[in-house]
Amino acid sequence: MREMTTYIPQSAKILSVEELNKNTKMFTLDISLGAKPGQFVNIWIPHFDEKPFSVASDDGKQTKLAIANVGRFTAELFTKKCDDTIGIRGPYGNSFSVRADEKIILVGGGFGSAPLHFLGETSQKNGCDITIIIGARTKDFLMYEEECAESEFRVITTTNDGSAGEEGFVTGPLERLLKTENIDFVQTCGPEKMMEAVALLCKQANVLCEVSLERYMKCGFGICGQCSCGSKLVCRDGCVFSGEEALSLPDFGKFHRGPEGQKEYF
Ligand SMILES: Cc1cc2nc3c(=O)[nH]c(=O)nc-3n(C[C@H](O)[C@H](O)[C@H](O)COP(=O)(O)OP(=O)(O)OC[C@H]3O[C@@H](n4cnc5c(N)ncnc54)[C@H](O)[C@@H]3O)c2cc1C
Ligand code: FES
Repeated sequence: MREMTTYIPQSAKILSVEELNKNTKMFTLDISLGAKPGQFVNIWIPHFDEKPFSVASDDGKQTKLAIANVGRFTAELFTKKCDDTIGIRGPYGNSFSVRADEKIILVGGGFGSAPLHFLGETSQKNGCDITIIIGARTKDFLMYEEECAESEFRVITTTNDGSAGEEGFVTGPLERLLKTENIDFVQTCGPEKMMEAVALLCKQANVLCEVSLERYMKCGFGICGQCSCGSKLVCRDGCVFSGEEALSLPDFGKFHRGPEGQKEYF
């Protein structure tokens, strides 16, 4: 049974707002909800709206969220400053599995590299050897390379236009490493087409993987049905699924549903 506070927004003060890349900022909040890597929270701006965001870290005292400014809600959030107060509820969803004594590859696109850094640091404490592949359209959209390097992960970056790191997609170095090294497990968070390609490469290489799905969400804990993906509710049954399970979902990599339930193709 969850605590009631899981469903009710609590007040959180913004402690800092730092730029991560061209359109993404890190919001540090003065509250911990005990989130594990892969879980998400709903952020509420009173009299405005509420939206889900993955937890980029939760150290038992503070919560960090890496947020891209892409539309109405995030533009409003970007007007908030240090000492402003917002609402937060959660954490929701399952979490990535924290492995022990394994050689792991993390594959992140967009803001996905932030929750993967949280995961990598947690697995590293269990003796895992961590490589992270971070992809972006251009160097302006790369983020978290420095934090991952400081955590002593092996860091490989790719950009579609070659403006930083290897030119191309994250699947290039992933395919190479799966062929040349003994990789035990792969975990990925980012655009769904990218995660589909990662899951397919892992299947070919016979390496287990986990993906973190995103769907349009409202309640965040399994009552409104908004986030369905085939027979699954992503907020309740995920967001983390095994690659095998994700590949068996008819919607995975093909379409998601908008706020009125309409199909939107990737
Ligand atoms: C589990 C989960 C974790 C997420 N983690 C992050 C994160 O760490 N950082 C981050 O920047 N974004 C994250 N998002 C996406 C974030 O919730 C949306 O980008 C944000 O709600 C956009 O709102 P907007 O009004 O600014 O933009 P809009 O113009 O309304 O939408 C822009 C895009 O965001 C999607 N979106 C809008 N509302 C929702 C919603 N209620 N649920 C899901 N998607 C929505 C739209 O489909 C559209 O593709 C996450 C989404 C989910 C479901
Ligand atoms: S968001 Fe309501 S059921 Fe998932």
